[in-house]
Amino acid sequence: MSKNFYVTTPIYYVNGDPHVGSAYTTIAADVIAKYKKSMGYDVFFLTGTDEHGQKVEEAAKDRGLTPQEWTDSMAPRFLDMWKALDINQTDFIRTTQERHKDAVKKILKVVHDKGDIYKGEYEGKYCVSCETFVPENQIVNEKHCPDCGKELRIVKEESYFFKMSKYQDALLEHIEANPDFILPHSRKNEVTSFIKQGLQDLSISRNTFEWGIPIEFAEGHITYVWFDALTNYLTAVGYENNPELFDKFWNNGEVVHLLGKDILRFHAIIWPCMLLSAGEKLPDKIVAHGWWTSQGEKMSKSKGNVVAPLDEVKKYGVDAFRYCLMREVNFGNDGDYSTPSIVTRINSDLANDLGNLLNRTLGMYGKYFNSTIVKGDKFEPLDESVKTLWDETLENVDSHMSKLEFSKALEAIWKFISRMNKYVDETAPWLLIKDESTLERLGTVMNFLVQALYKVAVLTAPYMPTASQKIWNQLGVTKNIMEAQIEDVKGWNLLPVGHILGNAEPIFPRLETEKKAPKKDPMAINEDLEVENPIEISDFDKVDIQVVEILEVSNIEGADKLLKFKVKTGKEVRQIVSGIAKYYSNPEELVGKKVLAILNLSAVTLKGVLSQGMLLSSSEKKKLKLVEIDSSVKIGAKIK
Ligand code: MSP
Repeated sequence: MSKNFYVTTPIYYVNGDPHVGSAYTTIAADVIAKYKKSMGYDVFFLTGTDEHGQKVEEAAKDRGLTPQEWTDSMAPRFLDMWKALDINQTDFIRTTQERHKDAVKKILKVVHDKGDIYKGEYEGKYCVSCETFVPENQIVNEKHCPDCGKELRIVKEESYFFKMSKYQDALLEHIEANPDFILPHSRKNEVTSFIKQGLQDLSISRNTFEWGIPIEFAEGHITYVWFDALTNYLTAVGYENNPELFDKFWNNGEVVHLLGKDILRFHAIIWPCMLLSAGEKLPDKIVAHGWWTSQGEKMSKSKGNVVAPLDEVKKYGVDAFRYCLMREVNFGNDGDYSTPSIVTRINSDLANDLGNLLNRTLGMYGKYFNSTIVKGDKFEPLDESVKTLWDETLENVDSHMSKLEFSKALEAIWKFISRMNKYVDETAPWLLIKDESTLERLGTVMNFLVQALYKVAVLTAPYMPTASQKIWNQLGVTKNIMEAQIEDVKGWNLLPVGHILGNAEPIFPRLETEKKAPKKDPMAINEDLEVENPIEISDFDKVDIQVVEILEVSNIEGADKLLKFKVKTGKEVRQIVSGIAKYYSNPEELVGKKVLAILNLSAVTLKGVLSQGMLLSSSEKKKLKLVEIDSSVKIGAKIK
């Protein structure tokens, strides 16, 4: 079997900063890439950005930029984030690169030459946010997208169609014949039952906007953004420009696509049909992960509960953040990101289990043998059982990793770490040191522990590259742990007699669990309160605020936002213009109300209409409401 491994993440839309969802898939891809390297594979790890489409065109326009300027400004943010998360992709693809445009042109030509593209007319509803056409039977409340809930646009345009329906049976057969094609297995039925409902041909061109890859055989048309985006997986491994690379990683490699469950259908249906038509091999695994919520709720900017990866890294460190994302939920399931569970996870798994094992071991080795590895071959049956557990751990980890079961792989590693902690308690080195006759056994036990830590660090390195390197460094090993091979840590005598260990320093400091803040007295006043922009009473006295009564109100032609009021003051009738039209659908209801007005404001002309004062409004979340006064207060009463 070839040992080439090709793993991809989705390419991300550039309209927003990378968030925990994109970080999650990218960290997972990085972990499997690093693990496969440690298993001796040649690895190609691809991530990148999806830069075409209507959404990008519109976002750029809103900002007064060209789509290219906009995407050029956003793509580096992804690269910066990946660097901060210790991610080492082999390639970063942007769909606006020439190499990609060439690859899309090539696949379109191949599929067209095959007779799988025809001209027709598309009439239906389109979701710009998801960049997808929505079939009638999936539309929610007649006009909303079933996935994101946004309002759909009615699209009627000439379009080119890809004969996807032609590949329905071949795809079903492939899914049946390859049980690991869609992972986790629980997702397979969802895909097959969708296909069995009957695949429709796919509209793959648009001609009502311009930001996309032109289609050579269809003037005025650009490529549908998903057809364009999916092709990235071929582009990067040289579909159009590097046959050797393509042969190595696509034709003779294990190809694994990681993605979120919301975009599984694009990957498990459209993409394989495109490949079947183009005569290319299908990927080996399409792995859909679940979605993260935050503190129990869907993440949204308005709720303010969006998990920003860099903030988490600041709080917990990059290794702990990567570890928690991979450990908290199994890859296919949804998960909730909540501070208390993250803190507990870090304290128990990282600070207690792993951190303590390292600290205790190095501390004792320093005390008993001056941190220098001694000879020790006084083995006992207990040691054999630990050795057996190590062999099982390697096997279990590999079996889970090959199914992308990151959390279970970590569980297996931690089972071994817990066993080693128990081994310390069972062997009790602090008793062995007390008697000359058990010194040799002490050496054996202590060697066993440092060897175990050296080996464990190789298994944790894909998840926690920096921390694992620190473990090696504290064990006195300066080699780059990212080059370590699992094959080399199968045995036990890895640190030779005479090797000098380093000093223990805490790698995962314990975090304070959030203490509940003592309840505040709701009636207490803050004597040190500082106000913003303070004024003096004399400043306030300058403003003449009085109670006025509204006599008339009317709209102003040509100025939708304004209302014109006639108001009665204590002395006269005045005309005041106010920009509150959109908050009062029935302004007539204001007539007869007593409200507050500033009367010594210089008169102005707004949209050609004279305004002799200003009505006071309260403003809440950008919603304005006139300040109404009790009807018993006299017109002309001054506000002091
Ligand atoms: N551009 C397309 C993918 C094209 S691939 C050929 C796209 N981009 S995206 O930026 O919207 O999505 C990115 C990924 O982030 C998806 O895999 C999606 O599942 C994932 N997530 C977005 N929010 C998420 C969570 N809250 N939790 C986990 N993953 C989520 O779709």
